[in-house]
Amino acid sequence: MTNRPAPEPVGDSNFVTRLDNWLDERTGIDSILHETLDEPIPGGARWAYVFGSGLLFLFVSQIITGVFLTLYYVPSSDHAHSVVSYIVKVVSSGSFIRSIHAYGSSGIIIVLLLHIGQTILYGSYKGRRELLWLSGCILLALMLGMAFTGYLLPWDEKAYFATAVGTNLVGEVPFIGPILQRLLRGGNQMGTLTISRFFVLHVFLLPGLLIGFIASHVFFFRKAGAAGPINEDPIHPKLPAVPFYPRQVFMDSVFAIVLIGILALIAKTIPMSLGPAANPADTSFLPRPEWYYRPAFQWLKYLSGHWSLIGGIIMPAVLALIFAAAPFLDRRQERRPWRRPISVGAFLLFLVAYTTLGVLSYRGDYSDPGLAAQMHKQDADEKAFMQKPFVAESAAGSVSAALASADPKVLKGQALFQANSCNSCHGESGVGTAAAGPLTGVGTQYTDAQLLALLHAPNSKMTSGGMMPVDPNPDDMEALAAYLKQLHQ
Ligand code: HEC
Repeated sequence: MTNRPAPEPVGDSNFVTRLDNWLDERTGIDSILHETLDEPIPGGARWAYVFGSGLLFLFVSQIITGVFLTLYYVPSSDHAHSVVSYIVKVVSSGSFIRSIHAYGSSGIIIVLLLHIGQTILYGSYKGRRELLWLSGCILLALMLGMAFTGYLLPWDEKAYFATAVGTNLVGEVPFIGPILQRLLRGGNQMGTLTISRFFVLHVFLLPGLLIGFIASHVFFFRKAGAAGPINEDPIHPKLPAVPFYPRQVFMDSVFAIVLIGILALIAKTIPMSLGPAANPADTSFLPRPEWYYRPAFQWLKYLSGHWSLIGGIIMPAVLALIFAAAPFLDRRQERRPWRRPISVGAFLLFLVAYTTLGVLSYRGDYSDPGLAAQMHKQDADEKAFMQKPFVAESAAGSVSAALASADPKVLKGQALFQANSCNSCHGESGVGTAAAGPLTGVGTQYTDAQLLALLHAPNSKMTSGGMMPVDPNPDDMEALAAYLKQLHQ
């Protein structure tokens, strides 16, 4: 802060100046504006610096659209789906606002990747910026949490089953996993308590934390100052500084307009669709997460047995720790990317692995004829639901009706199938993975007695594939068999 303008003499000035003086004496607004807009940027404005403010802009857009959605939303398994259906099919511009919100979350993930990529490429986490980087890491985790918790809220088939898989994974965390899972779900099964917990996380807790950490992120950024281009000294900048206003403000605004323009265009041309209401008894549904979680989903498919602990929990945790510790590990002040092959290379490697796993996941779905048929059926069901006019549901919504009509034994068996990690080898709903074949035919292949015997004493082919004998109490055993027998009837 330099050259603070002397206050205007009071009395002989016009109304605007007097109002400004009045406000400034009470709030210090002039120096705040001066601090905000005249932030020096070594080397001047650049398009490469627009991603951070782009994220802030998208976050504000999520808050505004989110407030509109919350005006209608009811966090209960009996109503959630029908209110979202009401928003999409009846409320004017409801589908548009919901689409901006839903695509906005994808937009945030993309701009986050760009923001992190720019920071790593420019080495702008260096030079006393450890806390800036750490607060950014927390923001990244909070944003991923927002994406995860928001995805469940429409309570359609894909939301329900993707979250079932996600919360199953949480259950795999050593020691505290099962407790965490019950805490998230509000019990062993997913239902109204799960929705209300996710709703509270998505609407109160995580946004509150986000606002706090965004404030600290901006504070740390201002404290350290803009790092400038790659050949700049990150602690004692040498290049002449140019104020943030007007050139950088202009570039940031253009980027914000481009972002909202793209979102509006996509929301208008391909409105976000809603599938049929979640039916927990539907055992044939193939759960698939949103695109940004697809690579992780694919990665987990390769893991089974004790590898799922190492590859699914320990390795990601270690990678996350190394990522968060980057500014502590990489202490040199060198910022040119070609002189920093390890950090830049590691990030590029991550991008390649992330993209490859994502592509493999989509390819896998549509190259296997059995899976592809089911995926196409799910897409078709979703389209058909979107075309149907809105029907008001009675208080006993379709979900509870479906639950009541489903065989409780089968539902219990389904829970046991997840709880015993059968899905880690045999896939969700027993569709099969590379580790073990599908279980969809066992209903016709074996009698009840044969199936029970096989589970008690697996044959050599099963044991050689790593399958352990299943030995719960007789009731559970019967439920598990009942579930297996009706897979893909
Ligand atoms: C470590 C991996 C693994 C786990 C975990 C696992 N299985 Fe298996 N399972 C196999 C392998 C390997 C086979 C052998 C043949 C194949 O590929 O289907 C098999 C075969 C079977 C079969 C016979 C299928 C047939 O067509 O003959 C049944 C039934 C079965 N498993 C049920 C279960 C149940 C129930 C669970 C959970 C309690 C479970 N499995 C957990 C690996 C596993």
